[in-house]
Amino acid sequence: MTLPETEGWQLTYQGWLPEQQQHREAICVLGNGRFATRGAFEGAAPGDTHYPGTYMAGGYNRRTSTVSGRGVENEDLVNLPNWLCLNFRPAEGDWLDFDTVEWLDYRQTLDLRHGVLTWHLHFRDPAGRETRLTSRRLMHMGDSHLAAIHWELEPVNWTGALHIRSGIDGGVENLGVARYRALETRHLDVLATEFFSDEAVLLRSMTNQSRIDLANAARTRAWQADGRGPEARERVETDAYLGHDLTLQAEPGQPIRVEKVAALYSGRDRAICEPGIDATAAVERAPGFDELLRSHAKAWERYWRGWDVTLHTDNNGDAEEQTVLRLHIFHLLQTTSLHTTDLDVGVPARGLHGEAYRGHIFWDELFILPLLNLHSPEISRALLMYRYRRLPEARRAASAEGLRGAMYPWQSGSSGREETQTLHLNPASGRWLPDDTHRQRHVNAAIAHNIWRYYEVSGDTDFMAFAGAEMILSIAQFWASLATYNPERQRYEIHGVVGPDEFHTRYPDSDTIGLSNNAYTNVMAAWCLHIAEQALEVIGPTPRNELLDRLEIDQAELARWQEIGQRMFIPFHGDGIISQFEGYEQLEELDWAGYRERYGNIQRLDRILEAEGEDINRYQASKQADLLMLFYLFPRQQIESLLAEMGYELDAEAIPRNIAYYEARTSHGSTLSNIVHSWVLARSDRQRSWDLFGNALISDLGDSQGGTTKEGIHLGAMAGTVDLALRGYTGMEPQDGVLWLDPMLPDGLHEVEHKIHYRGHWIHLVINHTRLTLRLEEGPWPPVRIGYRDRIHDLHQGETLELAYER
Ligand code: BGC
Repeated sequence: MTLPETEGWQLTYQGWLPEQQQHREAICVLGNGRFATRGAFEGAAPGDTHYPGTYMAGGYNRRTSTVSGRGVENEDLVNLPNWLCLNFRPAEGDWLDFDTVEWLDYRQTLDLRHGVLTWHLHFRDPAGRETRLTSRRLMHMGDSHLAAIHWELEPVNWTGALHIRSGIDGGVENLGVARYRALETRHLDVLATEFFSDEAVLLRSMTNQSRIDLANAARTRAWQADGRGPEARERVETDAYLGHDLTLQAEPGQPIRVEKVAALYSGRDRAICEPGIDATAAVERAPGFDELLRSHAKAWERYWRGWDVTLHTDNNGDAEEQTVLRLHIFHLLQTTSLHTTDLDVGVPARGLHGEAYRGHIFWDELFILPLLNLHSPEISRALLMYRYRRLPEARRAASAEGLRGAMYPWQSGSSGREETQTLHLNPASGRWLPDDTHRQRHVNAAIAHNIWRYYEVSGDTDFMAFAGAEMILSIAQFWASLATYNPERQRYEIHGVVGPDEFHTRYPDSDTIGLSNNAYTNVMAAWCLHIAEQALEVIGPTPRNELLDRLEIDQAELARWQEIGQRMFIPFHGDGIISQFEGYEQLEELDWAGYRERYGNIQRLDRILEAEGEDINRYQASKQADLLMLFYLFPRQQIESLLAEMGYELDAEAIPRNIAYYEARTSHGSTLSNIVHSWVLARSDRQRSWDLFGNALISDLGDSQGGTTKEGIHLGAMAGTVDLALRGYTGMEPQDGVLWLDPMLPDGLHEVEHKIHYRGHWIHLVINHTRLTLRLEEGPWPPVRIGYRDRIHDLHQGETLELAYER
């Protein structure tokens, strides 16, 4: 994968590389937390080279497909009508086609600071006509319903008439992921089209199952260099497309300007009358491109004021890490922004950037919310409310399994029911296989953890009182009913689950899905049972009694939770190694060197082995960090005391030994894995940690999962890298109202500078190899309590705290 040139706030791809275009489209997505559009060229039709796609947060639709004679229902994030459609041709020539022109210059630049995608193109058509085209595009970050494109087009060696075609295409399908194409791909019906003014069109459509009412409107204007408008304007309407053809006169040195302003509305929007009326009005009222660009850039500026991170690294010469971290923040905010607070949505694992994983929401928020908590806690709260509204569905799911409490799905979409596909295709073998990953009950612990962490950072007891504590208690109730008592061990156990490592979904040759005593799941279940008690404490007596009464939880049940938490079974083997699950150590060792030699990239060993007629379940080979998640989520003292409460002791060297054991047995088949491994090594092996950070940093930019980024970015890994720099390497840990810091910057990272929003305060932090400097810029009473080493310091508004630090 050819990496873009990075500089400060910009990424630039040089040269036309058709085989990498879809990857660039995913990296160059523009969005605003409500809508996002891939960075496909405006004139491009979907195919092997280009895939224009537009997605709306929460825009799902279900379809049933027939696979091997079976009906299989899937819920997908729908590709919406293509508003990009804009192309040109000389009167005697063809529409611009990237694949047939000769490239004299090709530059595609993503400006992260202002949220603008620009193309500088210079090409020669087959008849020898040379043209220059500069295209700029935005998805408005202030008014999230608006998007705009600006073109400047100039003939270099020809004169004559040219045509511009601009419109909206409702004839789109979900075709972005090759392995899903055998399934139902049509999710939209076009309902109506209208030319509602001389220069504007409206296309009404609806998702064909979920009945989301959609309206796309677009207005196109064009000017010759002397300021005159088009000589002619014709309406064009074919099938599901409608738009205009404009005719203008072109001359060298006389640039033509084209401006397209689009509006996207849905029936799920608030403060609207009817999507069609609002989309039409928005386009009629919208100012021109320059004014839209100005207000859009200002909206981005406001985000960056609280979100930018400055890194001083060994590589500062080319500033790569700095720019890539900004890219990651940029994509996070394009997927989930302040506009999201108005919506009923979670964070799709692959952003709003493509169709992989069908836009579903997994546990990846565990890697994303910590960052949101520290910068825009209102977004975290909105995302947690998505889960709260689906609590009744999670209760139904638990009760359908004969369990109490709430059991959230592994993959969530519109309603909160389980959306994990029942069958998946192994592209390496061409076989459809059952997907057993839905047994990842640990997603429930991730939700509880996210709630608790949000509370620790924000101090939002109101949220805890009306939603947070109820979710935590319902999840605790679920764990308590899932755990079974083993009288021989005199311990509680959890059976039939899958841990984060998706390579292991059952024991070798077993017909039953799930494993016993996945250590991560068991510890997290115990933690949930323990935190439930604290959640009850923080909300105060009246809400607490009210909640216990509503959930019909009595003192005896609370006492039972405590007992289960304290007597949870954790499997160990060898020299203090915590077994990923019971019996992991009895699995065969894999010939890692042999597989690496034969296949090169062995991240997806599951697919490789299945294609060989083998089964990854037989081997001590993990797709991603599983047990190590514990050392990622909890500081050492906390994990030690959690285990101690359960009656297990970890000796001083146990953590590094466990890390080394699993490091040697992990293929990093998930981008989340590098984040966790880098994090847990931050103290014991700074260099390796920094190297893994580097790997995580280019997961998407370098497409390290071999062709998956074009189907959508990996948002957990993107947010995870930023979080690693801000929290991981600075040892930042909010706990019981104190913000603890314990820096351990790797050699390659000289300084981190950023701002956080903690309990209503804005704190500016600079951390380098010799000191920590914190300035409380603004915030309410009482002061912030900063914990460093064994001391707690009060930091008042306007004060600066400097602490010397030796590595
Ligand atoms: C990983 C999961 C992750 C999912 C979505 C999978 O490949 O194994 O841990 O939640 O991708 O990102």
